[in-house]
Amino acid sequence: MNKLECNLGKLLLKNPITVASGTFGSGKEFKDFYDLSLLGGIMVKGTTPKKRIGNKPQRLVETSGGIINSIGLANGGVNDFINNILPETKNYGTEIIVNISGGTIDDYGYMAEKLSIDGVSALEVNISCPNVKAGGITFGTDPKMAYEVTKMVKNNTSKPIIMKLSPNVTDISIMAQAVEGGGADIISMINTLIGMAIDIEKQKPIINNIIGGYSGPPIKPIALRMVYEVYKSVNIPIIGMGGIMNTTDALEFIMAGATAISIGTANFVDPYIPLNIIDGIEKFLDRKCLKSYTQIIGAAHR
Ligand SMILES: Cc1cc2nc3c(=O)[nH]c(=O)nc-3n(C[C@H](O)[C@H](O)[C@H](O)COP(=O)(O)O)c2cc1C
Repeated sequence: MNKLECNLGKLLLKNPITVASGTFGSGKEFKDFYDLSLLGGIMVKGTTPKKRIGNKPQRLVETSGGIINSIGLANGGVNDFINNILPETKNYGTEIIVNISGGTIDDYGYMAEKLSIDGVSALEVNISCPNVKAGGITFGTDPKMAYEVTKMVKNNTSKPIIMKLSPNVTDISIMAQAVEGGGADIISMINTLIGMAIDIEKQKPIINNIIGGYSGPPIKPIALRMVYEVYKSVNIPIIGMGGIMNTTDALEFIMAGATAISIGTANFVDPYIPLNIIDGIEKFLDRKCLKSYTQIIGAAHR
């Protein structure tokens, strides 16, 4: 038996290591570094109904151990994805999870239907983008809206649905229960925390949009706590992310209750981190004489 086989209900991965949306492009940007089929899955950069140029620069800044981004979902639109990106990602030998965003609930239904095609393994529904004016985070901070978006996606696809939760809420368990109620198959969490940075010489915010999404190692304890809480609140599997940099971080998320994990900002530091983590988890299982990593999912609750 493969020790790392990962069962997310309707979605099966060869291992629980995926790469997070917006930090790995469509995979093309990383395919010269290593064989992408080694990954459990790739969450591709957020796709929207129409092409978006994103926010005005400056839209990325390194700060306090992490980064703040305000990309604003720059992408070529769903038709460009289907015609020009999907034909290549299909050949990567790993699960392709398409991250979708919209400005209205109907947009999400439209995207779900359009992407119910060969080569798409699952849809990750971004209701938590802090960098767009319409939609995005408003869907991810109101349980009723989150429920409605989930239901809309569910009614328009038979693909597994992963709802991506925002940490910018008072009680993330309520959001998790709302999307579970709407028919989510899987939860991914967390998206970025809202942050900002100021240039003291110019006495102005560094990010043109003033605020952006904060990611990287400093958000890990918050993400871990949220995964721990959500694990107790719902019965669907979790893909955990937020500041994962190494094997220890990944194992912490699994022990908090994540069935799979996603590597985000770490890809900008060292593109080989996902592979090092796959290797590191295998070594940990050998050292502990465990037959499958599934034996440690949620271990911190026992
Ligand atoms: C530059 C950048 C772009 C991102 N774009 C998206 C996106 O398009 N859709 C999405 O759901 N999350 C997006 N995210 C959020 C990540 O997928 C991830 O949830 C977050 O960064 C936390 O993980 P990390 O700390 O490991 O990076 C983006 C993050 C970064 C840093």
